[in-house]
Amino acid sequence: MKCGICSKNQEENKAMSKAVLNFLENQIAGQRNSGLIRNLKTGFEGSIDFASNDYLGLARSIELFEQINEEVLSTAKRNGSTGSRLLTGNSSYTEQTENFLAEIFQAESALIFNSGYSANLSVLSSIPQKDDTIIYDEHSHASIKDGARLSLAKRFAFRHNNLDDLELKIKKSTGRVYIIVESIYSMDGDECPLEDLCDLAEKYDACIVLDEAHSTGVMGENGNGMAIERNLHKKVFVRIYTFGKAMGIHGAVVVGTNSLRDYLINFARPFIYTTALSPHSIASVRCAFNYVTLNKNLQINLKHNIEKFLSATVQIKNRTPSKSAIQTLIVPGNDNVRIVAKYLNEKGFDVRPILSPTVPKGLERLRISLHAFNSTSEIEKFTSLLSNLPVVVNSDL
Ligand SMILES: Cc1ncc(COP(=O)(O)O)c(C=O)c1O
Repeated sequence: MKCGICSKNQEENKAMSKAVLNFLENQIAGQRNSGLIRNLKTGFEGSIDFASNDYLGLARSIELFEQINEEVLSTAKRNGSTGSRLLTGNSSYTEQTENFLAEIFQAESALIFNSGYSANLSVLSSIPQKDDTIIYDEHSHASIKDGARLSLAKRFAFRHNNLDDLELKIKKSTGRVYIIVESIYSMDGDECPLEDLCDLAEKYDACIVLDEAHSTGVMGENGNGMAIERNLHKKVFVRIYTFGKAMGIHGAVVVGTNSLRDYLINFARPFIYTTALSPHSIASVRCAFNYVTLNKNLQINLKHNIEKFLSATVQIKNRTPSKSAIQTLIVPGNDNVRIVAKYLNEKGFDVRPILSPTVPKGLERLRISLHAFNSTSEIEKFTSLLSNLPVVVNSDL
């Protein structure tokens, strides 16, 4: 028997989903026509890694893998955390790990997040209030910009690493002022002038929020980042460290005062309304930091490889001024940079093009990541190819 109401709903649903489907297809076609289509890619297995954020090689370390397995087997044999930290997802093991991280990062307290994205969203969407002001470096990561957008505070970008422009923006600000910077910028690989930023913040009683995503594991003794390495950590109110890059695992931690931790537990929606990391992830955090502490050669190898890369490429001009594991070769134009990346991929190197609008038009680039595990001969072959690229804009490449 036919039901009149159901068949009417079915008809409407059909019409609705058709409209949505059309919308999705039109948007994708627009991306494709403007050369901006994003595709998930595989097929890089076996190529030489000059692309990943696995700066120290921890993601591929069999030794660390085995240590994590042992740690998991010797603690809770559970697959998931079962809930939000505020409900069933908390454990004494997680809290002990946070105490361990607070010690590593020389802070009163630490709070673990599921990712760096979630940590930045949490801090920026919950702490700055209406009538306060967020001022972030224009090169900030999307998670910082998205967090600022979720806040009711006023927000401005300041010119990259430009303290005069920052000061102008501070003078225009109202309420409490938050200055958001990264220790190492993710697309250019250059550093923020942390000491000068701290001085300026002090002058105006502003609060520095420092994203240490690309310095975690890489800078500071035992990988504890730039602020501690420069002895500026007491001047930075909020520090965010991520585990998905040099630490080779997943997640993030926000460190600071006890009040910062309590506040985030109470007000940060991306912390409150999500399932906590699994026991396996928490065990990975402990093991990865212990591993970096016991394997100081990794940081040293990475430093040597950066030096080798820099000395082999001094004559290449079109790059950003970086001394970190993130290096660039600017190849203006999405099509051009895709062609150059494809050429290097075909030579056996995994290196990815970064297109506009992820970076500004005209500053499309190869984002080159250096690692502790890259061999001298890999670096020599790769830099020799970079130095002898057939004309960059030549589509016959
Ligand atoms: C500077 C910076 N902050 C935050 C994030 C986000 O971290 P996660 O990948 O852990 O979400 C990234 C990741 O690309 C980043 O580069």
